[in-house]
Amino acid sequence: MVNIAIFASGNGSNAENIINYFNGATDRGAHVNLVICNRKGAGVIDRAARLGVDCRVMTRAELSSPEILLPLLKEYSADLIVLAGYLLMIPEFLLRQYEGRIINIHPSLLPKYGGKGMYGHHVHEAVVAAGERETGISIHYVTEECDGGEIIFQAKTALAPTDTVEDVEAKIHVLEQENFPRVIETVVRNL
Ligand code: GRF
Repeated sequence: MVNIAIFASGNGSNAENIINYFNGATDRGAHVNLVICNRKGAGVIDRAARLGVDCRVMTRAELSSPEILLPLLKEYSADLIVLAGYLLMIPEFLLRQYEGRIINIHPSLLPKYGGKGMYGHHVHEAVVAAGERETGISIHYVTEECDGGEIIFQAKTALAPTDTVEDVEAKIHVLEQENFPRVIETVVRNL
């Protein structure tokens, strides 16, 4: 059984969906046993509590410390790290320790609308401002380059010229809910 640690900073709808997918079944090869959050008061904290998954709220300094973070991941036997709306960069020591075992979801069709400053609403605002006729999600391996690692999966959705930022966000949300857990499952099967 593969142990998944989810890193999240915000609302946590993806984290909840992933936890339900894996922890609600015994035949999916993985289990989420830890959520790490860098923001006090984030919605993901309550969601994890409700779903019975341990959640640690950690400061940026703690998350940058190999002496603190690596023993915690070891305590939970974390095999795979899934970033689900996590806004901090992954430190070098963690990339080395978990090479090929950290994946992220980004709410655009990378390489478009990726990189520094491109997160959450900023992405959807840029997509609408550019008059794009489609957007989508990218699930990719994490490397030292922001949003630059190998792409595992992309899904597209069409946009109407009248779509607002909120409309785009809602369409992206549907794609994320439909696809993220099962794409993680394919990664798990290939570990
Ligand atoms: C998602 O759109 C994700 O792709 C992006 O941030 C959002 C997080 O939403 N990186 P949630 O916290 O999972 O609800």
